[in-house]
Amino acid sequence: MCGIIGYTGGAWALPVLVEGLRTLEYRGYDSAGVALMDTDDGSPVVRVAKHSGKLANLEEALRERPLPGSTGLGHTRWATHGVPNDRNAHPHTDDSGRLALVHNGIIENYTQLREELSDRGHGFRSDTDTEVVACLVADRYRGELAAAVREAMCRVRGAFAIAAVHADEPGTIVACRREAPLVIGCMDGASLLASDVAGLVAHTRDVEALLDDQVATLTPNGVTVTDLGGAPAQGHRYRVDWDVDAAEKQGYPHFMLKEIHEQPQAVRDTLIGRTDADGRLVLDELRCDPDELRHVDKVYVVACGTSYHAGLVAKYAIEHWAGVPVEAEIASEFRYRDPILSSHTLVVTISQSGETADTLAAASHARDQQARVVAVTNVVGSSLAREADAVVYTRAGPEIAVASTKAFTTQIVALDVLALYLAQARRALFPDECRDHLARMEALPALLEQVLKQEGELAELAAGSFADAGYVMFVGRHVGLPIALEGALKLKEISYVHAEGFPAGEMKHGPIALIDAGGPVVALATRGHVHGKLLSNIQEVKARGAVVLAVATEGDTAIDAHADHVVYVPEVHELLYPLLTVVPLQLLGYHMAVRLDRDVDQPRNLAKTVTVE
Ligand code: M6R
Repeated sequence: MCGIIGYTGGAWALPVLVEGLRTLEYRGYDSAGVALMDTDDGSPVVRVAKHSGKLANLEEALRERPLPGSTGLGHTRWATHGVPNDRNAHPHTDDSGRLALVHNGIIENYTQLREELSDRGHGFRSDTDTEVVACLVADRYRGELAAAVREAMCRVRGAFAIAAVHADEPGTIVACRREAPLVIGCMDGASLLASDVAGLVAHTRDVEALLDDQVATLTPNGVTVTDLGGAPAQGHRYRVDWDVDAAEKQGYPHFMLKEIHEQPQAVRDTLIGRTDADGRLVLDELRCDPDELRHVDKVYVVACGTSYHAGLVAKYAIEHWAGVPVEAEIASEFRYRDPILSSHTLVVTISQSGETADTLAAASHARDQQARVVAVTNVVGSSLAREADAVVYTRAGPEIAVASTKAFTTQIVALDVLALYLAQARRALFPDECRDHLARMEALPALLEQVLKQEGELAELAAGSFADAGYVMFVGRHVGLPIALEGALKLKEISYVHAEGFPAGEMKHGPIALIDAGGPVVALATRGHVHGKLLSNIQEVKARGAVVLAVATEGDTAIDAHADHVVYVPEVHELLYPLLTVVPLQLLGYHMAVRLDRDVDQPRNLAKTVTVE
């Protein structure tokens, strides 16, 4: 889950690379580096500059000593092999220093390759698996970089996207991928590559995503793609439908806050065009025969992190509306047990990025077992979108902050639409019932705007009762439970305050022992069939001295007697509450993190897209 950028063209490469790295820094920020091709006394050379820590450190070094050249590579790292220091930063070079290479992923057989290469006289300076690949490509180099990359990558096991330059081939970049993203783009007189379209949209919106085991050769005049055998090939070509402004902060202090406030529009966009002229639900991207959906007897929703929490919310909607049993699974666990799958099983994989390694592996495991795989993803052309049988896109636009917010709410919307579509196909709901539910969802953007207006109160709470909290507990029942889990995840990942989410009814089976006087508890207490039970659970923690913040339904004045603080959300259908109740928790987490002076958009130890297992 590192970020790779490459440029070859007529302009200075360095500004393009640094700008590209800035947009990709969310993928990892343990170190950053660049390699530029230039000449020294007329002889071609490759020069490398790299620095541990954030991109700003590298930028400072480059301001003092800029690197010239119009072909180069850039890299921003999330460390896997080797601690984050200058030595382990990318790009890595071979012994001669004539070849430089950047890499995203994990090389599984690097120990064996390192031994083989040591026996052949190669030396190593870093602890990384990447340096082994640089030496392997150099070892196979006989005057044609693309041929050397093809030969080398046939020996490599694991998931990777790599890009390399060689001093003997000025103006040429060679790249290859397997199970890690890499997109290329061309403009007049220049070619670019990046781990993500965010790195390219400032230059072009027409992109080509390389497919597994494809090798691209980029020159200023264009790109050629082959397979590992050298036969001509073609990646997945598409046009990016958002522009560069969407990936800017636009006056907000952090991407996370901007993305929280973008939720009404993102939800609106995700709902556009979901019905035909007769008001029946249509899912154009879902390349699934309704007949097949009719025969589905089991649904698995599989995802990681926040996307998993969206899957937990969907479980309630699919079971309630479509009447099919659902199991929600963490993707990194799914394929290591023996899920019982068949051609009547629908596996719904959810991933904002569409590149999460565990989710991709779960999708592929499900397909191997003959299950139908649907992807719910935000990224058109992503690996998950390509590899699933069918896809439903969220239309959240680029999400840059590591903490996922608008992706979550749009995932729930897309999953709810999918649940209704299943219900329609299976005739579990009457058409007018489906229409009514959809109409309720269409009212959500305006209701989200209302919830967002309470930001000031949540900022006050973050500075008041919650200011010195050493831990925060989040409790909920029914659809409130996934939101309790998500509220806790949001808070811990950006503020580093210990937070846990629990089913409210489970508190007395253990977790309530954690409560002491003044300990903050956030309770998801909106109206619904478990409301009364939840109020009893609030009493239990209050009796032990907890300070309770309740997220309740507007008009529920009785809640005041139970909670110390209340934030209200408008009344909606019980299954739709998660779309509103998560927003105050996102804002609370955000303001607590700001108050603690945390790096909100790039929290420690994390990366936005987890492309390693
Ligand atoms: O791109 P994905 O949706 O597959 O990512 C899954 C998780 O890595 C992601 O949701 C993560 O938990 C976020 N940092 C949560 O805010």
